[in-house]
Amino acid sequence: MSNKPLVSIIMGSANDWEIMQQAARALQDFGVAYDARVISAHRSPGLLFDYIKEASAQGVQCFIAGAGGAAHLAGVIAGKTTLPVLGVPIPSKYLKGMDSLLSIVQMPKGIPVATFAIGEAGAANAGLFAVAMLALNDAALAQKLAGYRKQQAEQIAATMLPTL
Ligand code: RP5
Repeated sequence: MSNKPLVSIIMGSANDWEIMQQAARALQDFGVAYDARVISAHRSPGLLFDYIKEASAQGVQCFIAGAGGAAHLAGVIAGKTTLPVLGVPIPSKYLKGMDSLLSIVQMPKGIPVATFAIGEAGAANAGLFAVAMLALNDAALAQKLAGYRKQQAEQIAATMLPTL
């Protein structure tokens, strides 16, 4: 891993990157170092367990996990670490991500996963949520986040609807 990542983004398939890059983009916009990689809870569980140990030892503060279908990735990570795990349901072909959402959100009591919206908004918000967590101990980052929110509010306030 390069540049001491504070956030680890894991996805079950390279096909998830189209969505998960939104989480990476949010972190990048705030200058938060991250590591992003494809590791599947089902297809490469051994690699997943090794990576969780390695990332935790290297100072990662939280995991963002995106998976689709029978989406067990986030839950399995949460079972292996006490670091916060943020789950992003990837839209799936047949059930449109409802399967992913329910797989991620319905964790058993005791092993929480913070679950976000299906798709791009969820991935972006998982990135922003990680920023908010890190900002608790980083005043400069907190200020940047406040600035981002202020900008959004100003955009809304300046929005004019077309006349009929
Ligand atoms: C999950 O299965 C992945 O997260 C992906 O969303 C889904 C389908 O994987 P692929 O067949 O596209 O590789 O493990």
